[in-house]
Amino acid sequence: MISRRVKSSKEDDDRLQSQLKLNGTIPVHIAIIMDGNGRWAKKRNLPRIAGHKEGVESVRDIVEVCGQLGVKHLTLYAFSTENWKRPKDEVSMLMRLLMNALRDETDRLHKNNVSVNAIGDIDALPIEVQNELNDAKTKTATNTGLQLHLALSYSGRWDLTEAIKKLAYDVKKGILQPDQIDTKAIEKYLATNGIPDPDLLVRTSGEFRISNFLLWQLAYSEIFISPVCWPDFRRRELYEAITDFQKRERRFGLVSEQLKEPLEGSSIIKK
Ligand code: IPE
Ligand code: IPE
Ligand code: MG
Repeated sequence: MISRRVKSSKEDDDRLQSQLKLNGTIPVHIAIIMDGNGRWAKKRNLPRIAGHKEGVESVRDIVEVCGQLGVKHLTLYAFSTENWKRPKDEVSMLMRLLMNALRDETDRLHKNNVSVNAIGDIDALPIEVQNELNDAKTKTATNTGLQLHLALSYSGRWDLTEAIKKLAYDVKKGILQPDQIDTKAIEKYLATNGIPDPDLLVRTSGEFRISNFLLWQLAYSEIFISPVCWPDFRRRELYEAITDFQKRERRFGLVSEQLKEPLEGSSIIKK
């Protein structure tokens, strides 16, 4: 574990990042369930929205550091299909916050070579949010650094349901034969088509559940649960998660001995 007592200067941070890169593999794709904003605020006698606002600061720091570390994909679970059922006030404040954050952050993201993408039932979002999202996506479309995927009005079951619907239509139209349905074919219908599965899933605030996140895609992800609430989850906490990830042996159903030599033709390992 990286000591939290280390003073955070730019040099210290550079040193920690170099150390992480030397220690082992940096995950290609990190997915995060950003949880605990409400509890963070409650502990401070603040309204829940104060936690969401502080959470935006964590997003900024984590996105920046992922870019610096060379992470290729970062998927942030920002709003689930179930979150629509929260009190109206909280939902509308969250939507406003999202809209403002997109508006305020797009230039910085662009400068940092980040490309913005969204997965989820985007049509369900208020039109103002959709517009900001489209602006961010268009402006950053050709950037070659970190790909930031915002999971908005997303759930794993929604994703699978939509995929099955589209797939059924293609079978009906004769574009696809039932015999051709395999895992690769299914993946093409998911919102994450073209994005490799997450190597590392982080959930903050100490909850041990997936809460309808990437149900298909997390099949072989390494899971790291942090006790820290999202508004307090910053780069040092991410370094800790990556350090833990680097100690894992990812076996993908095989035995240790098989992992020493890259297996010819093993699509699972090469994935
Ligand atoms: C995560 O924090 C943000 C969203 C789900 C939108 P929460 O709002 O779930 O905070 P807790 O879990 O109630 O503390
Ligand atoms: C998961 O958090 C969804 C997001 C972080 C967007 P929730 O707070 O909605 O999950 P539960 O209700 O604790 O499972
Ligand atoms: Mg929560």
